[in-house]
Amino acid sequence: MPFLKKRAATGFDLTSPEFRVNPGLAFGKVLTQGPVFQSRMPIVGNSWIASSWEAVAETLRNTQDFVRDPRIAGRQNEFWISRILPRKFKRLFFNNMLTRDGEDHRRLRTLVSQAFQRQNIQQMETRINAIAIQHLQNMESNFNSPSTGIDFISNFCRPYPLAVICELLGLPESDRPKFMKWFSGMSRVRSAAGIFKLLPMMNRTIKYLQDQFEQVRKNPRPGLITSLVEAEAEGDRLQQDELLSTALLLLLAGHETTLHLLSNSLLTLLQLEDEKLALMTNWAQADATIDEILRWTSVVHIAKPRFVTRDRKFHGQMLNRGETIIPCLGSANFDPEVFTAPTEFQRNRTPNRHMTFGNGPHVCLGMSLARAETRIALQAIFEKWPQLVADFRLSQPDFGRRIGMRTLNTLMLKRNA
Ligand code: HEM
Repeated sequence: MPFLKKRAATGFDLTSPEFRVNPGLAFGKVLTQGPVFQSRMPIVGNSWIASSWEAVAETLRNTQDFVRDPRIAGRQNEFWISRILPRKFKRLFFNNMLTRDGEDHRRLRTLVSQAFQRQNIQQMETRINAIAIQHLQNMESNFNSPSTGIDFISNFCRPYPLAVICELLGLPESDRPKFMKWFSGMSRVRSAAGIFKLLPMMNRTIKYLQDQFEQVRKNPRPGLITSLVEAEAEGDRLQQDELLSTALLLLLAGHETTLHLLSNSLLTLLQLEDEKLALMTNWAQADATIDEILRWTSVVHIAKPRFVTRDRKFHGQMLNRGETIIPCLGSANFDPEVFTAPTEFQRNRTPNRHMTFGNGPHVCLGMSLARAETRIALQAIFEKWPQLVADFRLSQPDFGRRIGMRTLNTLMLKRNA
C-alpha cells in the first residue's frame, strides 16, 4: 500500500470544536498544511485533503481524474464501512446523482433539476413565506413573556425546511411530526458507529417512501414523488433503486443542510449586531449577506470524497489511482488568494466565490431553494421579533459535533422587551 507508507500525521481533525467556534482561524490553519496533504479521516480512513481554493475547484471540476463512483477508480467500495453495511442500505445510499458520474449523473439530475431552478423557486416564494409565518405563529404562545427563552432549532429551524421539502415532494402534511422524530438524530453523526445507529430510522423512512410510491402509482398527486414514479414507468429513465435513493437524497439533503444554514444565520446576525441592523433597514441586501454567512461560517465543511482515476501529480503531491481526495470547502472559503481579509465578515463582498454549495457538475441542486428559504425566514423572524437576542447561559453557543458541518444542538433565543 504505497499510500500508507507516504502518509504523514497532520493536525487536521474535523471533529475538533475549533472548526465550530472559530471557522476562520481553524480553516486558516488547514491552509498552512499546503494545497494538498494527507490525513486520517473519520469514516473515510486515510485520504488526501484538497485545501486551497484552486485545488478544491479542480478536484470538483476535473471529472476525468476525480470521480464519485469508486469502481471507475478500480475500487470495490467507497469506504471500509460500505463493506459491512447491509446490502439494502448500500443500494439505497449509493444509487443517486451524488454517487454517480458522467452520463448517469446527468440523467438522474435532469429528472428533478427543473423543480429546483431559480425561476421555479421564485414562483414558490409566496407559499414558502406562508409556511414560515405559520411556524412562527405556532411558536407565539410559548414566547409570550420577554424573559422566556425558546429553542429555535426544534421549534423553527428543523420543522420549517422540512415542511418546504415535503411540500415540494408532495408528501402529506400529517406525516411531518413523524419525520421530526425520525430525523432529529441525524445532526449527531460523528463516527461510523453513529451511522449504524441511524439505520433503524433509515429503514422506517425507506418503508414510508415505498408506501408513498405505491399510493401515487394509483392516485397521482402534485409533487416530485409523482414525477419520479412517472419517470420510473418509462423504464429506461429511472430504475427502482434509483427511485428510492433519489427521493431519500432529496428529503434528507433538502432539510438537514438548510436547518444548519438557518441556525448559523441567526447566530451570526445576533453575534454581529451591526450586520443585523444593516439587514433590517435594507432587505435587498439579504442574498449578499446570506452568501457571506455561507462563506464565513462554512456550514458544510467538506464535499463528498472523490476517487483518483489515474496516477498523477497534483499541487506538488503524487496521487495514486484508487486513493481518495476530500475537497475541504471551509479552507477554500478562507483562502487569501481568492478572498481579501478572509476572516472579516464583509457583507458587500463581490464577487463572493465561496465553495459552501460545492462546484462543478455536482454543485448543490438546492442552492436557490436554500437561499430563498433562509432569506424569507430571516425577514419573517426579525420583522416579527426585532428585539430577538441570544440567551447564552453557557459561555459559548451550544455547538453540535457532527462531522463536516457547523451545527447547533439548541439555539435559545429571547425577545427583549
Ligand atoms: C444551506 C443549504 C445547503 C448547502 C450548504 C448544501 C451543500 C451542498 C454541497 C456542498 C453539495 C455538493 C456535494 C459534493 O459535490 O460532494 C450539494 C449537493 C446537493 N445538494 Fe445541497 N446544500 C444545501 C441545501 C440543499 C437543498 C435545500 C437541497 C434540496 C433538495 C439540496 C440538494 C442537493 C442535491 C440533490 C445535491 C447533489 C447534486 C449532484 O450530485 O448533482 N441541497 N449540496
